[in-house]
Amino acid sequence: MVASGDRPVLLTGASGTLGRLLAARLGAFGWVLRLTDIAEFPDPLPPNSTFATADLEDQAAVHALAENCGLILHFGGVSTEQPFEAILGPNLRGSFHVYEAARKQRARVVFASSNHAVGLYERSAVLNHDCNLRPDGFYGLSKAYGEMLGRLYWEKHAVETIMIRIGSVLPEVTNERILSTWLSPNDFVSLIQRCAEAERVGCSVIWGASNNSRSFWAGDARATIGWTPHDSSDSHLDRALGKVTDDPVAERYQGGVFVSVDYSRRDFPPGEMFDAKMLS
Ligand SMILES: NC(=O)c1ccc[n+]([C@@H]2O[C@H](COP(=O)([O-])OP(=O)(O)OC[C@H]3O[C@@H](n4cnc5c(N)ncnc54)[C@H](O)[C@@H]3O)[C@@H](O)[C@H]2O)c1
Repeated sequence: MVASGDRPVLLTGASGTLGRLLAARLGAFGWVLRLTDIAEFPDPLPPNSTFATADLEDQAAVHALAENCGLILHFGGVSTEQPFEAILGPNLRGSFHVYEAARKQRARVVFASSNHAVGLYERSAVLNHDCNLRPDGFYGLSKAYGEMLGRLYWEKHAVETIMIRIGSVLPEVTNERILSTWLSPNDFVSLIQRCAEAERVGCSVIWGASNNSRSFWAGDARATIGWTPHDSSDSHLDRALGKVTDDPVAERYQGGVFVSVDYSRRDFPPGEMFDAKMLS
């Protein structure tokens, strides 16, 4: 385990949906957690945990919070599609602060990447972890940047990283797309456990999804970290099949409704935006 009583685990985004889940479950395992978020922590503090509000854009605050930590679970930041300026500070600058702090502390980082880093692949594609990134908006772009940061800090500074391209962590499978992207809360927690316990992880990409037969993804570093998901969306087929939107763009691409935000390609079919004759 890269973190212990002497080397606590820093969890950013602790007051968010996944942060609260991790705080409760990892706290119950007895992990020594240093929780942080820009918003107050809404739950009773787990045993062995402390909480401090901080803005990820505040480099000094992030560095102070990371002091002596052996592992940083980086789950803080903007988690929906937003204008570029709203994402720039929390996700780009904030992730830089986290990686620089990890370098200083010689800590391992778990980066909460997203399926939206590859959301512009069509749903018929089955992706390997080393596919080209195809972000489906500014949010997905910030996750692609975070993954590149992780790669840089591993290659240049030996900061170990696991990038989890999280699908959809939900208690239930609520629609047809989620049959492909579902990560059950239990599989999610066991993945984070392996990220902490694995002896060596290097720079690993993991598809954050349960054992779904309709998965968009296959092939990642799960054997390296010793993670096997046990749940599957297959048992939710009856409930979710046929639950689709009436938006053809959302239904065409892996990223779903995030792709539709500000999508303008339908207004300019390929070849119609630029006419080479204009140059002559
Ligand atoms: N929930 C999922 O299924 C899912 C899927 C893909 C990726 N992810 C990623 O996992 C992470 C957690 O997801 P979530 O669903 O819990 O999101 P969330 O929005 O519920 O939580 C994000 C937290 O980050 C905090 N935050 C935002 N800006 C901040 C700043 N400047 N400084 C400090 N804290 C800030 C927010 O207050 C919030 O509590 C996010 O990075 C998200 O992109 C989640």
